[in-house]
Amino acid sequence: MTSIGDAWRLARQRIDRLDARLLVEYVAGCSHADLLAHPTRSLPALQERRLDALVRRRASGEPLAYLLGCAGFYGREFTVTADVLVPRPETELLVELALERLQHTDQPVVADLGTGSGVLAVTLKCLCPQASVVAVDLSPAALDVARLNASLHAATVRFVQGDWYGPLTGERFDLIVANPPYVAAADPHLERDGLPFEPRLALTDGVAGGDGLECARAIVGGAARHLLPGGWLLIEHGHEHALAVRELLRRGGLSGMATWPDLSGSERVSGACLVGGRD
Ligand SMILES: C[S@@+](CC[C@H](N)C(=O)[O-])C[C@H]1O[C@@H](n2cnc3c(N)ncnc32)[C@H](O)[C@@H]1O
Repeated sequence: MTSIGDAWRLARQRIDRLDARLLVEYVAGCSHADLLAHPTRSLPALQERRLDALVRRRASGEPLAYLLGCAGFYGREFTVTADVLVPRPETELLVELALERLQHTDQPVVADLGTGSGVLAVTLKCLCPQASVVAVDLSPAALDVARLNASLHAATVRFVQGDWYGPLTGERFDLIVANPPYVAAADPHLERDGLPFEPRLALTDGVAGGDGLECARAIVGGAARHLLPGGWLLIEHGHEHALAVRELLRRGGLSGMATWPDLSGSERVSGACLVGGRD
């Protein structure tokens, strides 16, 4: 039988040091302090085999979040399975921009399009409890994960399955947030950095020879029919898409177009609002 300290040493020869540590702690059910203070604690053979399998999967590029079954987002922990995109830190910018806008409305009505694991809908509901939040996804499996996360965080969110605004006919919102798939179908990144393990539906619109903006076109194109006067659409996009998305927002009848950079300085979120009303 090996010890947890030896298991950590062996694991970090195969994968990143921090990932190795988190997997050992996860499998052994111990804290970081336990691992440092009691490295000679034994790791039963069953757990050793389980750790080996997880290290193997991590070494093959599978995202750590799928192996641990969870990921952090805006200070909360969310359940993550292979049915949903692993929440990215850059998406936290959408939360900040959304909260700035929600503070000006008493009982805002909010839609999250392409909710995935539900990180945006659940975080916004937790931080702005007076908001009514609806979350849409095409994937029933993703919606199951999002519902689980809403219940874990005691957030009342209405989840609906369908194609963008399809299930929201006749509804208007103070705020629409969306982090749609935006990787072009031919982008070689789809074969790297763990992306092959994530749902294709969450990453790309799949349009052969496309620019990755098909989902943004649908979301921006329908915004004026689904925003209340003064309401905002905030949409995440690829760093190279900002100009094109602002042009979509302008053509979509929205005003006050702006783009905001993420923490790495990449243009990541664009948005605009509906002035007056429009059908
Ligand atoms: C990039 S992921 C974003 C997930 C989550 N909002 C986040 O930020 O981590 C895009 C999500 O859009 C969903 N999606 C793709 N096409 C869709 C469509 N036509 N209608 C609704 N949702 C769609 C995918 O299933 C996926 O969950």
